Amino acid sequence: MSALFSPLDLGPFALPNRIAIAPMCQYSAVDGCATDWHLQQVMQYAMSGAGLVVLEASGVERRGRITHGCLGIYSDANEAALARVLAAARGVAVPGTRFGIQIAHAGRKASTQRPWEGSGPLSTSEDPWPTVASSATPFNAGWHTPTALDENAMAHIRLAFVRAAQRAVRLGFDAVELHSTHGYLLDTFLSPLVNTRTDQYGGSFENRVRFPLSVARAVKAALPAHVVLGARITGTDWTDNKGWTPDEAALYAAELKAIGAAYISVSTGGIVPNLPIPQGLGYQVPPAAHVKAKAGVPTATAGHIVDATQAEELVATGKIDFVMLARAILDNPRWPWHAADRLGAKINYPPQFARIAPSLWKGATAARPLDFPASKTS
Ligand SMILES: Cc1cc2nc3c(=O)[nH]c(=O)nc-3n(C[C@H](O)[C@H](O)[C@H](O)COP(=O)(O)O)c2cc1C
Repeated sequence: MSALFSPLDLGPFALPNRIAIAPMCQYSAVDGCATDWHLQQVMQYAMSGAGLVVLEASGVERRGRITHGCLGIYSDANEAALARVLAAARGVAVPGTRFGIQIAHAGRKASTQRPWEGSGPLSTSEDPWPTVASSATPFNAGWHTPTALDENAMAHIRLAFVRAAQRAVRLGFDAVELHSTHGYLLDTFLSPLVNTRTDQYGGSFENRVRFPLSVARAVKAALPAHVVLGARITGTDWTDNKGWTPDEAALYAAELKAIGAAYISVSTGGIVPNLPIPQGLGYQVPPAAHVKAKAGVPTATAGHIVDATQAEELVATGKIDFVMLARAILDNPRWPWHAADRLGAKINYPPQFARIAPSLWKGATAARPLDFPASKTS
């Protein structure tokens, strides 16, 4: 019996398995509106068999987008475009698939170029916009200097998160994931590497979590009981004890759980440039396991989880409750089908694909075109 393919109770509903698709910006939106790119991408995710599909970071206001190509959830046009994508995805989804959306504000890392344009700050000829953060320090040399938010501006942004959550509910998402990691707006409050405020939003742990928790509380209050609140948080800044630590992450996760978050997704890094982030299989598992052990909330992590047996081991040993796959799913959107095959678990194929079920042709692996050595195919 595979742990990876066992259900996970999130309160209002259970995920059919422990595989989630991590949010992944596609930089392919137009003024925040999803396009045909998102349509095909989310439809592929929907067919993948993953229990939870989390749509990419979606700006709660226009200036909260990272790039001109980032998805938004701040306007009626954004909402209509997402409705089209979600309806199409639900139309082909494996039964039981749940859909979430990550609501986000990019803070001082907003107003930047798409990755394939360089990922740098937008120049004056690229229609840049002013950025905001906890404190008025740019992300890096040459980047836009953000305005430090005052309480009025913070209330405005909190409301934008609430309105985005309301749009997500109207759209019929099953989960709303609060983005509070990777150096984006909420993370600039959490991390002492960036937050230099001297008011009640800076300094102590209690002060640094004050604004992000107020946003989480307001978002939770906007969600009906059947819609799950999740949060993506930083497990560590990777700066030993100078920055945000796994212990702070666990305390923050416990506070989010008390507010009503049904799951925590642990990620790391991104708060300041050029930190030495260790790479390697499951490199974010240790901080995630720490959060799970201390906060006792369903916990996921991503980060070089690429292989079915690796994912199975992480869940079976209780280090984490479910995996968040990013690049592995981009690379192979049928990853869960193959994982089920490898682990001897059952997964629902769309009936149109029934004839690729391993039991029907597994014995003939040598005939699989990709398995032919190059010399035999040329
Ligand atoms: C193309 C791409 C876009 C991403 N966009 C987001 C995003 O919108 N929100 C987020 O929290 N993380 C984002 N990430 C980070 C991933 O969700 C994930 O945490 C990271 O890639 C590590 O997991 P992996 O090793 O499975 O790729 C993105 C990653 C990639 C590769």
